Amino acid sequence: MTMQEAIRERHSVRKYLDKPIPTEIAAQLQQRLKENNHASGLCLTLVTGRSDGLGAMAKLISKHVNNYIILAGPDTPELDEKLGYWGADAMLFAQTLGLNSWWVGGMFSAKGSEKHLACTGLRVNGVIALGYGVTQGLPHKSKTAADISSYDGTAPQWFQDGVSSLLLAPTALNKQAYRVYGKGNKVVLICDSGHFAGIDLGIGKYHFEAGAGKNNFEWVRYL
Ligand SMILES: Cc1cc2nc3c(=O)[nH]c(=O)nc-3n(C[C@H](O)[C@H](O)[C@H](O)COP(=O)(O)O)c2cc1C
Repeated sequence: MTMQEAIRERHSVRKYLDKPIPTEIAAQLQQRLKENNHASGLCLTLVTGRSDGLGAMAKLISKHVNNYIILAGPDTPELDEKLGYWGADAMLFAQTLGLNSWWVGGMFSAKGSEKHLACTGLRVNGVIALGYGVTQGLPHKSKTAADISSYDGTAPQWFQDGVSSLLLAPTALNKQAYRVYGKGNKVVLICDSGHFAGIDLGIGKYHFEAGAGKNNFEWVRYL
C-alpha cells in the first residue's frame, strides 16, 4: 500500500483485536520513527504491549489498545505543528504496514506514557493508538473543497489533489478548520481549531503535500 492509498484508507479505529504487532512490523515502524526523529529533533516513541498511554475516558470508549506512539519533543513554539506533521507520517506509514490507528490528542495520559521516553525534559502532547482494528473504520463526514479552499485563477490539478488529500486528514473533533489559498505555485494553509490548531495544521500540511506533490508548490505565510 502506498502512502496515497493509506491516506484514502485510514479512518479512526478505537476497537482493536487482542493481537500483538509482529516483531518485524514493529521493527519497520521503529526504524521509520528513528529516521524521522533524526530529521525533526522530535522523540516519537513506539510502545508495545501497554495501554498506559490512554486516559480513563479513552479506555472506556476503546478496546484492546495495547500499542501506541508517544507524540513528544522539546517544548518549542513549533512543537505542536511538528508533532502533527511527523505524527501524520508515522500514522500513515503504520497504515501501509496493515495497522489501524487512532489519534488521541485529548484523552491521552501524559503521566502514563512519558515513563517510556528515552529522554527527559520533553513535552508529550498526545498519543496515536495502533493495532489491528475490529473494523477498518468509516470515512468521516467532510467539508467540501469549496468550503475550505480558493485559488487565484483556475486551480491546477496539483492544488485540487492537495485539497482532496487535506480533506481526508484526521482533525480534532473532525473540525476541518482549514483555509487553504493558492496563487501561482504559492500556498497558504491556515488552521483555526483552538487548542489543537498547531497539531491539526501539521497533519494538514503533511496531507496537502502528499496529495499535491512537494515539488509543485511552496508554502508561504501570506499571498
Ligand atoms: C489532534 C487530534 C486530537 C484528537 N483527539 C481525540 C480524542 O481525544 N478522543 C477521540 O476519541 N478522538 C480524537 N481524535 C480523533 C478525531 O475525532 C478523528 O480524527 C476525526 O473525527 C476524523 O475522523 P477520522 O480520523 O476517521 O478521519 C483526535 C484527532 C486529532 C487529529
